[in-house]
Amino acid sequence: MLILNKTAGSFSKPSKRKIYEILRCFLFHPGKRFLHKLVLGIETSCDDTAAAVVDETGNVLGEAIHSQTEVHLKEGGIIPPVAQQLHRENIQRIVQEALSASKVPPSELSAVATTIKPGLALSLGVGLSYSVQLVNQLKKPFIPIHHMEAHALTVRLTNNVEFPFLVLLISGGHCLLALVQGVSDFLMLGKSLDIAPGDMLDKVARRLSLIKHPECSTMCGGKAIEHLAKQGNKLQFDLKPPLHRNKNCNFSFTGLQHTVDKIIIRKEKEEGIETGQVLSSAADIAAAVQHTIACHIAKRTHRAILFCQQRGLLSQTNAVLVASGGVASNLYIRKALGIIADVTQCTLLCPPPRLCTDNGVMIAWNGIEKLRAGLGILHSTEGIRYEPKCPLGVDISKEVGEAAIKVPRLKMEI
Ligand code: KG4
Ligand code: ZN
Repeated sequence: MLILNKTAGSFSKPSKRKIYEILRCFLFHPGKRFLHKLVLGIETSCDDTAAAVVDETGNVLGEAIHSQTEVHLKEGGIIPPVAQQLHRENIQRIVQEALSASKVPPSELSAVATTIKPGLALSLGVGLSYSVQLVNQLKKPFIPIHHMEAHALTVRLTNNVEFPFLVLLISGGHCLLALVQGVSDFLMLGKSLDIAPGDMLDKVARRLSLIKHPECSTMCGGKAIEHLAKQGNKLQFDLKPPLHRNKNCNFSFTGLQHTVDKIIIRKEKEEGIETGQVLSSAADIAAAVQHTIACHIAKRTHRAILFCQQRGLLSQTNAVLVASGGVASNLYIRKALGIIADVTQCTLLCPPPRLCTDNGVMIAWNGIEKLRAGLGILHSTEGIRYEPKCPLGVDISKEVGEAAIKVPRLKMEI
């Protein structure tokens, strides 16, 4: 292909970038409209301010994120008013960055999709009030997004996955197993009865003072535990997986966390060190904790697959298990899930790590899914409220427990 160089009046070979720009132009209608639907997604439910522009085919045209992890690491946890202030300081810039990177004029957006539930009230409020202002100014439809639904559907952006599929969401704020039957059609099979696994890992990492460990000082708790666990011996501590007598798909992490706290106190005495210093047995503790969590999560997931297979809720020939959320980026846990997927003849899919953690792309993509399905598209923002607590789908966890499915014992040689 040759293009006319207007100033020189000659033809020249275009650069790759130029070809891309020209192809992008072909996506315009004569009325200067993009051929594909385009959604701006905005996420502020916890401690990340994120935005992205995604098109109907799953192309990420532009994205931006401001992570508050470093600030919260120093504070020893998320302090909601601090998170709120940081969202306020960054939301305008992040949305602008995502839009500029996408080269999509705001007037060409099909809709704006924003997380309004569940999450931290103060954080959700920032994203919602910014979005309400934006859609009213642009006169665009608004698509309210359920944060967990967005996590669950992300896989359909990266892989060709049909409904129904099973999803395991494990992060700092969530822990659940759900059957995804449609864009807005979820059956909740089990959830954590107390805290989420990421929250537990963050607490253990903090108690172990891993921020003072030279190799882990900039890592979030879960990542620090994964990193140290590689150097440790999981057999040094005999930790029991939680709820092992309960034949349901619920999770629990608080009891395990207390047991680990006690071990740390004992080791501090044995090693003669003060609280706040790093134990020489920290890597062994990390390895044992990671292994126990992996076994617990794998067993509940195994039971959920068996329940769905028994009830004919998953495809007989092409059952899919999706693992997502920050904790699902842990490779040890992924391996444990891989073992379960093998024995149950499921395909395990995990979105890439950057899409497993909170991001704007998953919100924009959920907006696209809703737009295509014609679900939850609002033309007025009147009366919209954020909802800090909001369950996902229809809760059938009691029925799952009543089925009391026995899970075969597996050797977790990871
Ligand atoms: O999905 P996410 O970014 O935010 C929400 O909680 O919604 O997940 C963050 C959580 C944190 O608790 C963090 O410690 C954990 O995910 N995490 C990990 C790993 N990377 C992040 N946990 C275990 N292993 C990891 N590699
Ligand atoms: Zn999340």
